[in-house]
Amino acid sequence: METKVIRIEDTDHIKDEELREAAQILRAGGLVAFPTETVYGLGANALDEEAAKKIYAAKGRPSDNPLIAHISCMKELEPLVTEIPEAGRRLAEAYWPGPLTMVFPKSEKVPYGTTGGLDTVAVRMPSDPVANRLIALAGVPVAAPSANTSGRPSPTMAEHVYQDMNGRIEMIIDGGPVGIGLESTIVDVSGEVPTLLRPGAVTMEMLEETVGHVEIDPALQGPLRADVRPKAPGMKYRHYAPKAVLTLVEGETEAVIAEMNRLVKEHLDAGERVGVICTEETRGRYPEGVLRCIGERSHEETIAHNLFAVLREFDDLQVDCIFSESFSKDHLGQAIMNRLTKAAGYHIIKV
Ligand code: TXA
Ligand code: MG
Repeated sequence: METKVIRIEDTDHIKDEELREAAQILRAGGLVAFPTETVYGLGANALDEEAAKKIYAAKGRPSDNPLIAHISCMKELEPLVTEIPEAGRRLAEAYWPGPLTMVFPKSEKVPYGTTGGLDTVAVRMPSDPVANRLIALAGVPVAAPSANTSGRPSPTMAEHVYQDMNGRIEMIIDGGPVGIGLESTIVDVSGEVPTLLRPGAVTMEMLEETVGHVEIDPALQGPLRADVRPKAPGMKYRHYAPKAVLTLVEGETEAVIAEMNRLVKEHLDAGERVGVICTEETRGRYPEGVLRCIGERSHEETIAHNLFAVLREFDDLQVDCIFSESFSKDHLGQAIMNRLTKAAGYHIIKV
């Protein structure tokens, strides 16, 4: 299959003509990758089971891992769910459109092929103008996982999507680099107490400010034990995995720098190609190894934004191992550390 790439020149002034062919492909059961404010998504008609199957095939994704249905406005939510619990209503008012996904009891309209057999459906209303307009023009809810091959870091630029999906899907819409760089926060509002299933740019503090106490899914606390089943099925897979072995080093800055340099030397001496992930604040401190700066410690948004791109870059550089500094787990740091520790397979050295 030939994958057509179209570029949106001015995302602040999108013309409907630019998105009409993409909307038509979606309505006809095809696949279109598009930018959102979090990561690039791989879209298909969420109400069409056959279209959902194509997503799983293109990504090489296990079919028990449910998809998020994307909508463009509040009236598109009602047909997908049997009820909108109070917490869901309040969170929608506060954070939609935006980087928040909510899990609701699903209506009969939503096929099990989209929800991976679950009786709930995850729904998100993206704020990205390309995503939002595309969904509105398609006239159907758009199921969209991150547009990466299953197991690879999520795409934050159209080039990443092209690397993984060229020849497998009908179209890629290039809207430039995304804003946030980490996938949406997922909150289950279908039960008594809202529960965080995946941390993202809508932080715990922001959620609790709006709805009071929010539980955290036990599966988020650390390496998965066999008896803990994550409520978001996707969280059980080793996501965001770089090809090299990634190790996080945690502790006081000076001790971390010393330990990282020691490890780098040890692995270089063993004949390996070694990558180092540092921050603006520490970039002058690592004399050896292939160095990549992930952003500013004092500005977490830059770290979130660059994380997946840096992991992909190390894949291209074919390093054998990567050592990375680690970050505070407060605010956006919870999402950053969730992705990083998973990418590292929970391999963390404390100094
Ligand atoms: O930011 C995002 O959410 C991006 C963009 C494209 O919108 N999408 C995304 O989708 O990250 P994906 O498929 O890569 O991750 C969806 C996660 C998976 O962990 C899945 O298990 C979980 O959402 N999920 C989907 N439906 C669910 C449901 N009904 N109950 C619990 N978890 C669900
Ligand atoms: Mg994903």
